[in-house]
Amino acid sequence: MNIVVLGAQWGDEGKGKIIDFLAEGAAVVVRYQGGNNAGHTVVIDGKKFALRMVPSGILHKGKKCVIGNGLVIDPKALLEELKYLKKNGIYTGSNLLVSENTNVILPYHKLLDTLNESKSKKGKIGTTSRGIGPAYMDKMGRTGIRMVDLLNARVLKEKLERNLQFKNYVLKNYYRVKPFNKNVLFKEYLGYGKKLKRYIVNTFPFLYEQVLLDKNILFEGAQGTMLDIDFGTYPFVTSSNSTSGGACTGSGVGPNAINKIIGVTKAYTTRVGEGPFPSELSDDFGAMLRKKGNEYGVNTGRPRRCGWFDAVVGRYSAMVNGLTGLAVTKLDVLSGIKELKICVAYNINGKIVKDFPADMDNLAAAKPVYKTVKGWDEDLTRINKYSELPGNTKKYLKEIEKLTGVNISILSIGPERSQTFILDKIWKR
Ligand code: IMP
Repeated sequence: MNIVVLGAQWGDEGKGKIIDFLAEGAAVVVRYQGGNNAGHTVVIDGKKFALRMVPSGILHKGKKCVIGNGLVIDPKALLEELKYLKKNGIYTGSNLLVSENTNVILPYHKLLDTLNESKSKKGKIGTTSRGIGPAYMDKMGRTGIRMVDLLNARVLKEKLERNLQFKNYVLKNYYRVKPFNKNVLFKEYLGYGKKLKRYIVNTFPFLYEQVLLDKNILFEGAQGTMLDIDFGTYPFVTSSNSTSGGACTGSGVGPNAINKIIGVTKAYTTRVGEGPFPSELSDDFGAMLRKKGNEYGVNTGRPRRCGWFDAVVGRYSAMVNGLTGLAVTKLDVLSGIKELKICVAYNINGKIVKDFPADMDNLAAAKPVYKTVKGWDEDLTRINKYSELPGNTKKYLKEIEKLTGVNISILSIGPERSQTFILDKIWKR
């Protein structure tokens, strides 16, 4: 049984927690896209772990964790993450495999990311400044440096030389900043290769064998559907396929091996960075949600924009991912709100639209059409059975199911591993 768990909104849906919860039943956990722009939080017995590139399965003993070819890896940041995990008593040895094919983020990617954002006021995306976009540009431009290249001095030198010719030209003549020294970078990155050598392997035969042996594989998505390079609110997106198809292209596992696709969604909506967000609450109520839900980026600390649950996004997400179930998180945050709103359609210049628009001007003009449902006062954080939920909470969840056309498989009512319960047999066919 192989399951993809991905963000059904704009990221930060609480995927880390859901993955951690499901990892118990998995033999292997695979990350398939993104990089250290992600920040997956898992709380175990009050202790908070923040993971960036290493799959959340690392927090469970005996699970194999794979960093797939679809990521872009900052080796320095990866070494820091491994150090952080070791310091916190988490084993990261033979249980971690990094695909040889994974592309590398270099310092010029990070600098170009920052410079690009600061130079273009109107086109600002609000990136995490981790060099994600420029690294994926090089991958697609076929000039990227891969993890396997860090183990081959000749190739690394040649590729660095070629890349720096162009990058340094742009840095000097367009951005008017200091260029990079080829020899310094070569030495530094060859050094990272030496330190990471034990992890860099051919992950494809390993994963294929797991599929043939019918082991449970969990695919850990990063970011979210609306940040996907193809299906998201382009250009206000990340540079990879965070949707379910990315699980295959970013790991080397064929689509016929995927059995279930769980979309993680908050009981409301948040977004960081720029770009349209129709159900956004830019008022005191939105600020209250931010405070109550502690909506600040794990990675960058940026305050998240908050709004009502958007079923247009939910339906779209169900469609482009082929969602087989939903995991609804942060349901507890909505306790004590008299009336809850759900965005069921957009009014775009007088026209009612139920399909997510591609034109950013239309999306920016979209006024949410709301359905109002009754809220509940009860604290949900100690509940561990669906039947114990207040009647209005169940009605709210039923609305989400009806509007998205997807059944809820998992509910999360607090940050702890224990504050999660499943509504169907996830690891059974
Ligand atoms: P980048 O991935 O750093 O290039 O950023 C592109 C967009 O994706 C920006 O709006 C970021 O705020 C957003 N983004 C990237 N990673 C995450 C994440 O893990 N959670 C939420 N938003 C993200």
